[in-house]
Amino acid sequence: MSRKILVTSALPYANGPLHLGHLLESIQTDIWVRYQKLRGNDCAYLCADDAHGTAIMLTAEKLGITPEEQIARVKAEHERDLAGFLVQFDNYYSTHSPENRELSELIYNRLDANGHIERRDITQLFDPERELFLADRYIKGSCPKCKAEDQYGDNCEACGATYTPAELINPRSAISGATPIEKESTHYFFKLAEFTEMLRSWTRSDSLQPQIANKLNEWLDAGLHSWDISRDAPYFGFEIPNAPGKYFYVWLDAPIGYMASCANWCAKTDRNFDDYWGKDSSAELYHFIGKDIINFHGLFWPAMLDSAGFRQPTAIYAHGFLTVNGKKMSKSRGTFIKAETYLQHLPAEYLRYYFAAKLSGAVDDIDLNLEDFTKRVNSDLVGKLVNIASRSAKFVHKGNDGKTSSALDNPALWEETIALSDTLAGYFENREYGKAVREIMSQADACNEYFDQREPWKLAKQEGGAAEAAAVASQCLNIFRVLVTYLTPVLPELSKQAAAFLNCDIAWSGSFKPLLNHPITPFKAMISRVDPDKVAAMVDASAASTPAPNAQIENAKAPAKNATKKKEDSGIADTIEFPDFAKVDLRVAEIIAANAVEGADKLLQLTLSLGELGERNVFAGIKSAYQAEELVGKMTVMVANLSPRKMRFGVSEGMVLAAGPGGGDIWLLSPDSGAKPGMKIQ
Ligand code: 2FM
Ligand code: ZN
Repeated sequence: MSRKILVTSALPYANGPLHLGHLLESIQTDIWVRYQKLRGNDCAYLCADDAHGTAIMLTAEKLGITPEEQIARVKAEHERDLAGFLVQFDNYYSTHSPENRELSELIYNRLDANGHIERRDITQLFDPERELFLADRYIKGSCPKCKAEDQYGDNCEACGATYTPAELINPRSAISGATPIEKESTHYFFKLAEFTEMLRSWTRSDSLQPQIANKLNEWLDAGLHSWDISRDAPYFGFEIPNAPGKYFYVWLDAPIGYMASCANWCAKTDRNFDDYWGKDSSAELYHFIGKDIINFHGLFWPAMLDSAGFRQPTAIYAHGFLTVNGKKMSKSRGTFIKAETYLQHLPAEYLRYYFAAKLSGAVDDIDLNLEDFTKRVNSDLVGKLVNIASRSAKFVHKGNDGKTSSALDNPALWEETIALSDTLAGYFENREYGKAVREIMSQADACNEYFDQREPWKLAKQEGGAAEAAAVASQCLNIFRVLVTYLTPVLPELSKQAAAFLNCDIAWSGSFKPLLNHPITPFKAMISRVDPDKVAAMVDASAASTPAPNAQIENAKAPAKNATKKKEDSGIADTIEFPDFAKVDLRVAEIIAANAVEGADKLLQLTLSLGELGERNVFAGIKSAYQAEELVGKMTVMVANLSPRKMRFGVSEGMVLAAGPGGGDIWLLSPDSGAKPGMKIQ
């Protein structure tokens, strides 16, 4: 019997463009949904823009438009980008919708009627000029620990310390620059602690990954506090019923946005909302989210649903963060890549495939290593998978009149390929896409090996051998079809092209039957190799593009102070093993020439001598601290085995080491006297 399934991914803020971090989640979810649909399940993927909050209000103000105009603009961009990545929604809505207002009011009223809302006066920092209360991230000042200037109200980017805004030295409003004052007002709180027992049993259910259940248990052990669900005007959102000037905090109505998108979709498709959200619903409900918003989905949301008399999610599937080239995405490194920028340079399916190859059911972070990405797509998709079709087609056309042979040449290999179905189904169901991809590629290897062993190109030249060559090729095309079917959730466009080429349907239900005596069409190129220049151009374009308005703020997650305790951060990066460190070849280098780079504000072009090991051209971002002339003759330390990187001004063949926060405060590392150019640092 087909399953009835509702799937959501986190609602992106309507305050700026999508980047590849968002896409990791949308692609993970889309693959899962496409898989379910391919298997004949009644599955719907719902999402929306998260349209409320101070940040959106301020952005609109800055742009001189209304918040409604701002969220409409951004929603159109989000939908365009998601479609560009072949993410297929059954409904993409907005939290600023009549359905969401109605459901938010309904849920709030039920919470209130059940005695789960309390009202309390609290004191907060207030911007006297703009007349608004300031969330922590809208207060700036000097870090109380390291004294670094211009730090946000809850943590220091320079030393990693966490603190309260009241501890900042010289605090000021990030909006107007005014010195904040303390002011009291009434806030509305959701009494989360009353759901402790209910949440305990929820964490014991099968609904959560072990890492998530552990995290929730930590919070439960520490004791839950009431959650502040109101914000004072001015605020872009929904006013709380019977509370003039008080608005629902964006995180109250955001998850209700899942329901609102569903209500909107049900009305359009003649479905019944209660079948999905009612207490007795037999539908499955899954929320795909990032690990940073577990508290909202694992604590507040189930508690709200419980109090309001709705069903619980079947499961929450959290994924880790995306890093690029092993590091947090960074604008200056060109690795803060917007969805739009990626699509201007590369096809969507490359990234879909790479993410799939890296994803598992765990909460681990995923790294997009751009060199590995290039190699992987070229070797797997071009070199293995599509290679099967491209090298086989001509033998079928020449040797059997464009039809596949009437019998399989190697039934065992066929059986082996179709027997993978159950294992692969299990992998997709459990979000173990990386395992699925490995299995599929190893079968592609087996198919290519079979082709190589049977040498159809030689058979075709033999007297009467063309038919045998066609039989080998037909065998391979049949296997290609099954492998493409397995990869259809990941590569929907490639799957369509394969279906057109093989002149057949792509279906993964029931058992696979080989295409025998079946006419195919001429082979047309399905995928091209990743051009490393395009990848470099994408990085350059990302480094050059201007940040979104309020990019900092847009990406800041509202900290759930009431439910979680922040850990003190040491500011030191995660521990690495010695072999990782040993990969870095550090050498003493002599700067033999240094020049300013035309058109680059921050770069100096250095010629470094490694003695007998030769010379290197390196671009270093140290111009703000050094005059080119003063560097000539200096000894320094460089990473000598960094892959050359194409920059706008030339190729950089390594990196010099320097310390300091930036600007005038950059100090180039230099070895003690006596060290000679080229010496290895160990
Ligand atoms: O973290 C975010 O980007 C939020 N806009 C996600 C909201 S998810 C759901 F609860 F609406
Ligand atoms: Zn600090």
